[in-house]
Amino acid sequence: AELPTPRAGADEVLVRVRAAGINRSDVSNVLGSHPYTTVPRVPGRDFAGVTSSGEAVWGTGAELGFRRDGTHAEYVLVPAKALASKPRALSFQQAAACGVPFVTAWHALEHARVGEGATLLVIGAAGGVGSAAIQLARLRGAKVEGAVRVKQGSGLEFAHRDAPIQDLTPAEPPAEPLARSWDAIVDTTGRWLAPSIGALARGGRVVVMVSPGAGTEPVPLRDLYRREASIVGVNSLLYPAAECAELLRRLTPHFESGALRAPERLQPRPLGSEPYLALKDGASGKFVFTFGE
Ligand SMILES: NC(=O)c1ccc[n+]([C@@H]2O[C@H](COP(=O)([O-])OP(=O)(O)OC[C@H]3O[C@@H](n4cnc5c(N)ncnc54)[C@H](OP(=O)(O)O)[C@@H]3O)[C@@H](O)[C@H]2O)c1
Repeated sequence: AELPTPRAGADEVLVRVRAAGINRSDVSNVLGSHPYTTVPRVPGRDFAGVTSSGEAVWGTGAELGFRRDGTHAEYVLVPAKALASKPRALSFQQAAACGVPFVTAWHALEHARVGEGATLLVIGAAGGVGSAAIQLARLRGAKVEGAVRVKQGSGLEFAHRDAPIQDLTPAEPPAEPLARSWDAIVDTTGRWLAPSIGALARGGRVVVMVSPGAGTEPVPLRDLYRREASIVGVNSLLYPAAECAELLRRLTPHFESGALRAPERLQPRPLGSEPYLALKDGASGKFVFTFGE
C-alpha cells in the first residue's frame, strides 16, 4: 500500500530504509500469531538505512512492526536512542540481515551461560540465529560445534568446531546424532529438544526459541533431573530497540574486524509479499528487502 512519508516527532529520527531483513516472526506477525501487535501496522523489525543528516545506521527492536510501524517500507520512524552507526564492513543488505539473529543469539548465549571453555552445540548452524550463535560463542572462547540437518525429517551432520560456517554441508546422517555431552545446546529448530536434553553434561542448559506445531513437546524428565539440566527460553520480542542498539554498538568492532559476519545465503528481494510466502512455505536462506541498493 502507498503510505505517506512519516514525520518525526520529539526523540524520533526518520530513516530512509536501504535494506530490511525479513524474519520468520514477521511472517507469523502478519498471520496474526502475536496478540500484542496493534493494527494497522507496517511489519518488519530489522533495518539498515540513512538518516536525513546522511548517517548510515542499522537497528532492530521488539516494538518495530509490532507496536509501532516497522521497517518493511521505504521510511521508518525510529526512537533516537534506537539508532546505531552501521559498521562500514557491512553492506546495507548485510547489516539489515543481522538484527534479530544476533540479538537472539546473544541472549541465548547469556541465558545458557556460555563462557570461556564451555562446550556448545548449535543446531540449525547454517541459519541466521545459528550462525550468529556460533560466531558469538567463539568470541566468548567457547568450544563450539554446529549441526545442520541432512535433509528434511532426517538426522544431523556435525561440523568441527573450527570449521567455517559456510562449509557446513549435509552428508549422511550419523547413527546417534546427539550421543555426546555438551554444557549447552542452542536449538534454533525446536525439533531436537528431547535428544538435546539427553546430550547435556551435568548442569547443562538447552535453549529453545521456537515451538513448531501446537507449541508443546514431550520432555524426558528423567534425563533432565538426573543431569540437573535446564531448559531455558529466549524471546527477542522482550528487547526494545534502544536496548538492541546498545548491543549492536557493542558488536560493531567485531564486525569491523571480521570476527563477526552477517548471515550467509542472503536473498535480496524487492518489497512485496513473495518472501513472506516463501518463508511460510519453509524456504531456506536470509531474505532481505532492498530499496534502491
Ligand atoms: N524466540 C525468538 O525470539 C526468536 C528469534 C529469532 C528466530 N526465532 C525462531 O528461531 C528459528 C530460527 O531462526 P532463523 O532466523 O535462524 O531461521 P533460519 O535462518 O531459517 O534458520 C533455521 C535453520 O534451522 C534448520 N532446520 C530447520 N529444521 C530443522 C531440523 N528439523 N533439524 C535440523 N535443522 C533444521 C534450517 O535448515 P536449512 O538450512 O536446511 O533450511 C536452517 O538452517 C525460526 O523458527 C525463528 O522463527 C525465534
